[in-house]
Amino acid sequence: MLIPFLTSLLSILPTARADSLFVTPSAPSGAHPHCFATSYRGHYAGLHAYLLSEDCTSAALNTRFESATLVRLGTEGRRIVWVGASNALPSTHRDMLAAWETIDNIASSLLSSQHEDGQTLFSTESFQVSLDRLPTLVHASESGLYLSVPSSILPVLDTFLPAHLRPVAFPPHPLALPSTSGNRWGIPAEKAEHLTNIAKNLRFDPKIAAIASTISAKEILEDVRYLTGEREDSDIESRHSFHPDIINALIWVRREMRALGIDCSPYRHEEGFAPGLLCSIYPESDSEEQVIISAHIDSRGTFGSLRAPGANDDGSGSAHLLAIARAISQHNVTFEHPVTFAFFTGEEQGLVMSNHFAHTLKKENVSVQLNLQADMLGYRLPGEPLQLALPATIDLPEASYLVANISQLYAPELVVGRTAACCSDHQSFLQHGFPATQVFERNGWIADPMYHNSGDLSDREGYDAEQIKSIAKVTMATVFEVAGWRHGK
Ligand SMILES: *[C@@H]1O[C@H](CO)[C@@H](O)[C@H](O)[C@H]1NC(C)=O
Ligand SMILES: *[C@@H]1O[C@H](CO)[C@@H](O)[C@H](O)[C@H]1NC(C)=O
Ligand SMILES: *[C@@H]1O[C@H](CO)[C@@H](O)[C@H](O)[C@H]1NC(C)=O
Ligand SMILES: [Zn+2]
Repeated sequence: MLIPFLTSLLSILPTARADSLFVTPSAPSGAHPHCFATSYRGHYAGLHAYLLSEDCTSAALNTRFESATLVRLGTEGRRIVWVGASNALPSTHRDMLAAWETIDNIASSLLSSQHEDGQTLFSTESFQVSLDRLPTLVHASESGLYLSVPSSILPVLDTFLPAHLRPVAFPPHPLALPSTSGNRWGIPAEKAEHLTNIAKNLRFDPKIAAIASTISAKEILEDVRYLTGEREDSDIESRHSFHPDIINALIWVRREMRALGIDCSPYRHEEGFAPGLLCSIYPESDSEEQVIISAHIDSRGTFGSLRAPGANDDGSGSAHLLAIARAISQHNVTFEHPVTFAFFTGEEQGLVMSNHFAHTLKKENVSVQLNLQADMLGYRLPGEPLQLALPATIDLPEASYLVANISQLYAPELVVGRTAACCSDHQSFLQHGFPATQVFERNGWIADPMYHNSGDLSDREGYDAEQIKSIAKVTMATVFEVAGWRHGK
């Protein structure tokens, strides 16, 4: 059976040129409904953002809005990208203008093509870095920066950013307007209720526990070490979306999944980015209620560098997907609903593939029951207990409750809490009105000292494959519950 979205590659047509950026805390109602309905680009740290056409800019200028900002945009061929704090450290996340100065300095230093360690940043054949092709500041709010980024620079945008800042690229297509009632992401109430009902009817199932207990921390660590290049037999130095070695990683994952009887298709999205992989298990029934469990296979290094081994971010989430696939395959598990393992790319440049994919699903009217994103599962501060953190705000709460309840049943060793860490691919699903949440390694701030650093390897203090395994038991059981699992054929 073929699911349409896996076989068609959507090409996003350029939309009418955006004349201005319009940013407001409350969604406009009443005035110029057409302008706002066709220009919405999402919700970023408390603010709604729109890219208005020329006519709509004039209309907006003639209307009174409370605490809205309108900024004219200049050049074509540029993308608007929101950049905000990843909440890496409690103290480094408020001064957005200081953040812009840092980015501007890094961008300027790119003009001299040598980095401090003597490495060439980008080969000049690929990138003619010149002043008119650097990111520029469009608007700074208290919670984030809005940058104008040449499309050709987008695939390496992360290299301009200090570790505590991370980008979310505006989707190239307009999104549905945020709903004024119900949950803030505009997710249909029945989708949330469905997850609540599953949570209400949860009972410990010894068969699920038995399958979960076969997940091996040792195998997870071996897979992570392949993805980072720490293993002798690995030819991967970096999984940056713009680095050629990410293709080796994709080929390896696809081969591993094939050996488990699960086929993967490359998913091509925006120009300049490596494709990602979508690996699906189809049911015998014709259900199209998708369950999507995901991680990002790409990674990010120290700023200025394309060396991104990413043992934790997000080698941990990627290896955890392989571990679950292995448990499913070894126990001949089948599902009532299609289950997709998604390995995203372009996450580090602003959720680029997941936004493209969620848009495709929306356009093709695919019904998604849940997207569960695993991003950074492996680090805990020495002395801290094993943990599982759910998003403080960037989630469908009903989805997070379900995961928390399942964690108590199948991984009682995990201390479940919340994190304000921002942002990962599940946000793309939420912005398109699909139920989603994320699992993360630590309650509170991001504590990993190798976060967004070229030294993110597995052989270091605090990196713990046991914690990745415990979280994998929880996400596996969640997929079993939501996708309707059956044991054996
Ligand atoms: C899975 O199926 C294979 C072949 O049909 C069989 O040999 C194997 O014993 C089954 N494994 C389990 C755990 O049921
Ligand atoms: C989309 O799917 C829903 C059911 O999931 C159906 O009611 C609706 O008519 C479909 N819309 C389109 C445009 O196909
Ligand atoms: C379990 O789910 C319910 C809602 O269905 C929620 O109130 C409760 O807090 C959840 N348990 C945990 C440990 O989060
Ligand atoms: Zn990540």
